[in-house]
Parts: sequence; structure tokens; C-alpha cells
Amino acid sequence: MFRKRSYSLIVFGLLLVMTMILLLYGSRLFTDIEEEAHITQEDRIVVGVSQLGSESGWRTANTESVQQAFTQQNGYFLIFHNARQKQENQLKAIRSFISQRVDYIIFSPVVETGWETVLQEAKQAGIPVILMDRNVDVEDESLYVTCVGSDFEAEGVKAGRWLEKELVQQRRSSESINIVILTGTEGSSSQIGRSAGFETVAERHANWNILEEKCAEFTSTKGKEVMKTFLKRYPDIDVVVSQNDDMTFGAIEAIKESGRTVGVDGDIMILSFDAVRGALDMVADGTINVDIECNPNQGEYLLRVIDMLEAEETVEKKYYVEEDVFTIENVTQEVLGGRSY
Ligand code: AHR
Repeated sequence: MFRKRSYSLIVFGLLLVMTMILLLYGSRLFTDIEEEAHITQEDRIVVGVSQLGSESGWRTANTESVQQAFTQQNGYFLIFHNARQKQENQLKAIRSFISQRVDYIIFSPVVETGWETVLQEAKQAGIPVILMDRNVDVEDESLYVTCVGSDFEAEGVKAGRWLEKELVQQRRSSESINIVILTGTEGSSSQIGRSAGFETVAERHANWNILEEKCAEFTSTKGKEVMKTFLKRYPDIDVVVSQNDDMTFGAIEAIKESGRTVGVDGDIMILSFDAVRGALDMVADGTINVDIECNPNQGEYLLRVIDMLEAEETVEKKYYVEEDVFTIENVTQEVLGGRSY
């Protein structure tokens, strides 16, 4: 009887000790995990990104590229804000990034002007600002560190040069050529650059009549609306220059509805910008004559710039992304297959 009781006491004691060890070890384990999580969180680079909106397929691809780059696995904590095409929303977002004391601010300025004050505030707070996609028009360039984006003027020149060559090939280089231009958001770098670039080529040709340029805000709906007014106003349009693919989609719909034809075998030549997958399909089937690429995959470039800044290396004031020109001759199945946006 006595033996039985002492045996149970020993077992009970052992169980008690084991439970205590487990509890102690468990709490230590949790503390370690918490500490580890805390350290990781602190080590992460906090980036505030103000995207200007989601007006186009290009923009969606640009947003995805940024979100895929600034991941927790890559060591970042991303605060993303969509300004829905409004500069005031971008200003608010940037100010909130400043008050949250992020490590870097990245933003894609909807228009070029009106940024001095907020950039000054970021500079005073010691937060480096990186421009993405578009540029700002400021006197003091030290207000931002660098800009990663496209050479929009070069894109406009490419469109003009393509038209020059095409008209020579068609033996129409001395014929009167009527052109209408659908422009993107007024005052944006992409609108300013593409207009200026195309203009430098156009002014060398007295026979190129630019009938009208009108803003269609980089959207398909507006593109269709503006194109309809052009078609009513001008019965003999030869060329449409549309400053992005979304406007092009709308414009093509309007032209087809009016009973006219487009593209390689049509009445109206279509020159577009961006080269998103849907538009490249239209280049391949001859609906769009030429598409000047604008590369939205800027996330990787931004990562590299931040790596350099973290390593205290000097960065350039401008980094241009790589871009091509697509016609029916070079839109291969390989190009189409590789297009994720
Ligand atoms: O700034 C880049 C331009 O903005 C792209 O061409 C257009 O699609 C986007 O909305």
C-alpha cells in the first residue's frame, strides 16, 4: 500500500517537473520567435508608393511590377496608395508617408508641375524621393534623388520616324497627309514628351497636316469619344496618332463604327504607344500599324536604385527603361508569348 502511494507520488512529481520544463522552454521559444519577428520587421526598408491611378492596362502592369518588387521576402514593407488620377490625392499620400517616416518615397507624378512644396517637406524630413514613370518640373533638382522611367520624347520621335519611312515606302512622301492626335493627360510627362518628339519630326514635313490634337486622358472611353468628334469634323483622316493603347482601342471602335477601315490594309493608319498584349495582337493582325513600346516593368530598376542608395553609392539623375518598336514584321509568337500584360 505504502509502496503504491510513493510510486504514484514519484510519477506525479516527474510529470510536474516535465510540465514546468515544457512551459519554460515554450515561453523561451515564443520570446525567440517574437524577437526574431521584431528584428526582421525593423530591418525591413519601408517604402511609400503613390501610384497616380489605374487608367490603363499599362498602369495596371506598372503597379504589379512595383508590388512584385517590394515584397517582404525582398526585405521591404510596402505602403501602396492609388491616387485615382488626382494630384491632390498624391499630395496627401506623400504627406502621410512623411508623417509615417518611411525610408523612401516613390511616386509617379500625374502631371509635371505643382510638386515643389511637398518635395521640400520630404527633403526637410530627410526622406529620399524617387520618381517613377513620369517626371516633375522643378527648379531645384535636388528635391528628388532620381527618376526611373521612359524617354517619352524619344518615343514620340520613333513614331514620327516610322511614319516618315512608311510614307516613303508607300510612295506618298509628297502627298498631303492628314493627321489627328489623341493625347494623354494634359501636362503629364508622357503627353508632353510624345507630343514634342512627334512634332520635331512633323515640322520637317510641310505635307503633314496636323488637323487637331485633343486630350483623351489615356482612357479607352475618352479615346472613342474624341475619335468620334474627329471623324465628324474631318472626312479625310489618313493617320491617327494615339498616345496610348487604351485610347487606341476606343478610337479603332469609333473608326470601325463609322464604316472606315484601319491598319496595314485600311484607310487610316494607326500609330500607338505602350505595346500591351491586346495591342500587340492587333499589330500582329495588321489592325495597328506600329506600336511604340513603353515599358511598365520598372520595379526591378527601382529595387536596384534603392540597393545602390543603401550602399551609399552615387545614382544617376535619370534611368531609362529599355523599349522597342513593334510592327507586323517583328511581333513574333515569341514576343506575344512573353507578354504578361
Ligand atoms: O506615363 C505612361 C503612360 O501612362 C502610358 O503610356 C499610359 O498607358 C499610362 O496611362
